[in-house]
Amino acid sequence: MPVMKKLIVANWKMNNSFAETDRWLKTFITEYDRNFAEFENVEPVLCPPVFLIDYVDSTLLDKSFEELDDFLKEEEKDIDDFSEDELADFVAMQRPFELGAQDCHYAENGSYTGDISAQMIKTLNANYVIIGHSERRARHLESDEMIAQKARLVQKNNLTPILCVGENKEVRDVRGHLEFVYKQLMASVPRDVHFPRLVIAYEPIWSIGTGVVPSAAEIKEMMRLLRRICQEKIPQIADEFVLLYGGSVTEQNSASILEIENVDGLLVGKASLDAKKFAQICLS
Ligand code: PGA
Repeated sequence: MPVMKKLIVANWKMNNSFAETDRWLKTFITEYDRNFAEFENVEPVLCPPVFLIDYVDSTLLDKSFEELDDFLKEEEKDIDDFSEDELADFVAMQRPFELGAQDCHYAENGSYTGDISAQMIKTLNANYVIIGHSERRARHLESDEMIAQKARLVQKNNLTPILCVGENKEVRDVRGHLEFVYKQLMASVPRDVHFPRLVIAYEPIWSIGTGVVPSAAEIKEMMRLLRRICQEKIPQIADEFVLLYGGSVTEQNSASILEIENVDGLLVGKASLDAKKFAQICLS
């Protein structure tokens, strides 16, 4: 089996303007170019607010074409010396991260003022969609059934779902977390859909934005359960599942969290707003 790259996802939530995004990109791209070899082992994904996705994509494309121009000049070659595939590979290699959206609606289309569909996200050159984030579940009253419906549409549109699960403090305090997450995951993944790739993010609600991180043993216990569920209970995601930890990840704790068994990557909120910190997390 090929070695899987670490998947490090930035969730900007409802933050950042065009100007702030420009600054973030400049810093992140500098870090990426400076550590190009180390980034080989990482798949960073940026999930900005949806109005920024196309803007970031175009900025990355411009950057790739500038790099291509410089390369052709240096090598004294002409664009016609390369096949379309070679050029596409070159452009893809210059891309420092993939793009994703923070949510999508559970319906294909219709009268849902202010919402966005998986199909619309697909047209934005994004590859991932976060679904079931606890902020959506709690503040937008989203049920497991809605999340399952979103997962279905995300898959139908050839996007990869980043499905969030996690218990709150009350559940953890009575040690009901394993059962809670088991039920939440089983109910959020539609049974009749085959997922070539599914990303599951374990995000204990008591850790999101609080600075409180579970112990390594607590993360390990949950990750082991998630892996077992994926292997034994949900055969339709057998091709590839990726397990992320999310909740108060920083550039200081990321390396030790990534060392925990079955942690394939991280979902980063607040710390991802700082491009330098996010790059450090990617390289940890
Ligand atoms: P946090 O957020 O890193 O700010 O805790 C994580 C998340 O909500 O995905």
